[in-house]
Amino acid sequence: MNLLKYIDVYHNFPVTGIRFNDVSKLMEEPNVFKYIIDHLADYAKSNHADLIVGPEANGFVFGSAVAYKLGIGFAPARKPGKLPGDSVGMSYKLEYGEDSLNLRKEDVQDRKHVVIIDDVFATGGTLKTTANLISDLGGTVVGAGVILELTKLNGRKNINGLDLVSLQKYEG
Ligand code: PRP
Repeated sequence: MNLLKYIDVYHNFPVTGIRFNDVSKLMEEPNVFKYIIDHLADYAKSNHADLIVGPEANGFVFGSAVAYKLGIGFAPARKPGKLPGDSVGMSYKLEYGEDSLNLRKEDVQDRKHVVIIDDVFATGGTLKTTANLISDLGGTVVGAGVILELTKLNGRKNINGLDLVSLQKYEG
């Protein structure tokens, strides 16, 4: 399926110079959403995932649906100030500015085989940071699945060989 048909592009959002990919229609169109969840779930299953971690915000939507389909758990990697209890945090660079993600200690335990699910893979900063948080908490990251990969940004060089599947590549 050509998913690019369902991704709306906004120029100069959220800041000047950024080409923003809006994935809302991927959630709104039932057949497209089903296609995405089925394919990402197949990938996570083949990598023997027993936990899905999804980065805020769209990793929550797609990641939790994948976890539901596989009958396994989901844990959110959240922006600062959102998680109560013990958590670990890490800062990273975005295409624009800087951000940080946090993961609750009790959500990841030893021997967990974790697959990270997110909507867009750009510079790889989000994925790398999420993978590092999981490893710091004793989990094993067995792979990552995203919907859209922006190949021009060459993010794969930033993720230390982590197994990554993308359902759609954009080379422009
Ligand atoms: C976007 C997207 C990915 C990340 C990819 O999230 O949803 O999580 O950027 O970029 P990267 O590969 O360069 O790290 P964003 O940081 O905009 O967060 P939001 O969904 O909460 O707005």
